[in-house]
Amino acid sequence: DFIKHLYSHEELSNKIKNLLGIKKVIISNGSIYESNGRLELAKVSSNYFLKNIKNNMIIGITGGSTIGQTIENIQTNKSFSNIVVVPVRGSLMGSVKNQANILAVKLAEKLNSKYANFYLPDDFDLDNLKDISKLPEVQKTLDLINHLDLLVFGIGDALKMANRRLLSEDEKELLIENNAVAEAFGNYFDINGNIVLKSKSIGISLEQFLNVKDVIAIAGDDEKEKAIIAISEVRKDITLIITEECAKKIIELK
Ligand code: BG6
Repeated sequence: DFIKHLYSHEELSNKIKNLLGIKKVIISNGSIYESNGRLELAKVSSNYFLKNIKNNMIIGITGGSTIGQTIENIQTNKSFSNIVVVPVRGSLMGSVKNQANILAVKLAEKLNSKYANFYLPDDFDLDNLKDISKLPEVQKTLDLINHLDLLVFGIGDALKMANRRLLSEDEKELLIENNAVAEAFGNYFDINGNIVLKSKSIGISLEQFLNVKDVIAIAGDDEKEKAIIAISEVRKDITLIITEECAKKIIELK
């Protein structure tokens, strides 16, 4: 509350922008633990997204509940028939609802656009991956990932995501030993943005991520502060959309 009284939203976003040294910060009201907090974050994110897209763009998205809710909140009468929406990772095991694949179709429906797909599970080992990457349908999607104009992605806490992505005990130990705090599109990072564990599944690579023209990260305040700091080290020219509560926690940490 003390911090709330000190900063307006604009001041808060400028403060975070300077602390993290990134391009742009947008703040939504409250916390995701408050009644409307998740919805607020999704509304702010979907509005910003709509303002920043135009026809002929190739737009990548990750999975996750945050991106899922953002897409749910997108409402437009415009038709973007020449946009292609691309899931940047194969599907996760477990819950299907918020897989990038599914979200890509949903977003394409909202925008009246095209979409690409990965009809693949996310947990291939490298031996299989080489063969699968050669499939023409998969090649097409991978090629689109190489040409993204915009990527909208979620940020996760390393260990929470390691559990969700069913990493092995050895891999989890490696994450702990190397102080991994963040997960994004299947890769794990320490607080300084160094990669600790690379995704061995199919989808966007770190190098490709760094080459996307424009990237938007969306994250709520469910213990993701360190993860957000880490991802801000990986790439400085990002737009970060977070809750007010999340912003305050970042200030406390920095
Ligand atoms: C995953 C994304 O699907 O969702 C990750 O690939 C992200 O980049 C994660 O870390 C976040 O999930 P959630 O449910 O917390 O939004």
